[in-house]
Amino acid sequence: MRYQIEDNSKDIKQLYWLYYRIVFGSIKDATGFITSRDGDKVIGAWPFREYKPGKFIFKSLIVHPDYRNQGIGKAIIQHSVELLKETGARFIKVRNRTVPRRIFDDLEFQQVDVEKSSGGKFRVFELELF
Ligand SMILES: CC(C)(COP(=O)(O)OP(=O)(O)OC[C@H]1O[C@@H](n2cnc3c(N)ncnc32)[C@H](O)[C@@H]1OP(=O)(O)O)[C@@H](O)C(=O)NCCC(=O)NCCS
Repeated sequence: MRYQIEDNSKDIKQLYWLYYRIVFGSIKDATGFITSRDGDKVIGAWPFREYKPGKFIFKSLIVHPDYRNQGIGKAIIQHSVELLKETGARFIKVRNRTVPRRIFDDLEFQQVDVEKSSGGKFRVFELELF
């Protein structure tokens, strides 16, 4: 598997379409994606938006249904921190509903909020990068 930063593309949008049957705002507004590829095939994506210089927000992690429960979601989260650090990022915020809190705790994210919406309960995490 390869983990990298990419711009939006047709195959990333298709991954969301496959699962949600909709390509929603956080995908359209993304300024980039951390992706996982198996050969040429995109099997996981995590969109981010640089909302201020050096400050990023992540939402809507997805792993292809055929590749779930193999640690790919977790690896995308781990790689995102290293890959963004290399670009000079200073701050990461995450809004997450599904991935267990301890995965973010292990990476030293701080939980700062819990938001309830029609989509469920989302935990909000923050990480300062030094
Ligand atoms: C949520 C999702 C991204 C997880 O990806 P994944 O590659 O299957 O996750 P991993 O195999 O890396 O699992 C990471 C950990 O999360 C746990 N986990 C994964 N999916 C889970 C779920 N739906 N509910 C609770 N725990 C879950 C795993 O047990 C694992 O724990 P471990 O470290 O103790 O083994 C994937 O299931 C997915 O795409 N779901 C649909 C979209 C979605 O709900 N996205 C979240 C939007 S906020």
